[in-house]
Amino acid sequence: MSQPPTLSLPIDIDAVKGFLSHAEGEALFRCATELDHAAAAVEIGSYCGKSTVYLGLGCQATKSTLFAVDHHRGSEEHQPGEMFHDPELLDDAGAFSTLASFRRTLSAAGLDDTVIPVLCSSAQFARVWQSPVGLVFIDGGHSLDAALLDYRSWAGLIKAGGRLAIHDVYPGSEAGGQAPITVYRLARASGLFREIVSVDSLRILERL
Ligand SMILES: C[S@@+](CC[C@H](N)C(=O)[O-])C[C@H]1O[C@@H](n2cnc3c(N)ncnc32)[C@H](O)[C@@H]1O
Repeated sequence: MSQPPTLSLPIDIDAVKGFLSHAEGEALFRCATELDHAAAAVEIGSYCGKSTVYLGLGCQATKSTLFAVDHHRGSEEHQPGEMFHDPELLDDAGAFSTLASFRRTLSAAGLDDTVIPVLCSSAQFARVWQSPVGLVFIDGGHSLDAALLDYRSWAGLIKAGGRLAIHDVYPGSEAGGQAPITVYRLARASGLFREIVSVDSLRILERL
C-alpha cells in the first residue's frame, strides 16, 4: 500500500498574511489528499493564499484541482476602519485588494498549475457550477447572511463521501463571530453530514 502524502511547505507560510493556524492548515492538506483526483475542491475565501497553499498542496499531491474563489475585495471586517483592516493591502487606487499578494503566494508555492483563481463571489460561481464537488472549504464573509449564502450555495453540490470544511467555528461569542458555527450547526442538523475532524476553530464534515 502506498504511503499517504506528507506535507512539505515550499514557502515560509508564516510570511503569508492570513487567519489560519498551522494545525488547521495540516488538517486541510490531509483532507485534500483524500480527494478522488477527479473530484475538484472549492475554497471560498482565499485572502492572501494561506489556506490555499495547504489545500493546493494536497490537491497537487493527488493531481486534483482547487478552485480558489474570492473577489479579493475583502470581507466587511477588512474594510478601512474595521477591526481586521490591513493598510498594506490597499491597491494603487486606494481600494482594499488581496489579489496581488494572493498571486505572489500561489506562484512562490508552485501552485499555478493546480489552483484556478476565481475572481467573483461564491454565490456567482455556484450559479454556473455544474458537477459534484469533492471538498468545499467555507471561509468567506463572516456575517450571518454571507455565511448562510455560501452554505446554501454549495452544500448541496458536495458529493457523497465528500467534505465540507468550515473555519472560525467558535462555541461562544467571546471567542469570535457566530455565523460559522450557525452554518456548522445547520449542516449537522440536516442529517446529511457527520463530523470527522475538529482542530482549533476548523471543523471538517463528511457528506453521508
Ligand atoms: C477570512 S478571509 C479568508 C482567509 C483565508 N482562508 C486564510 O487562510 O487566510 C475571507 C476572504 O473571503 C473573501 N470573501 C468575502 N465574501 C466573499 C464572497 N461572497 N465570495 C467570495 N469571497 C468572499 C474576502 O475577500 C476575504 O479575502
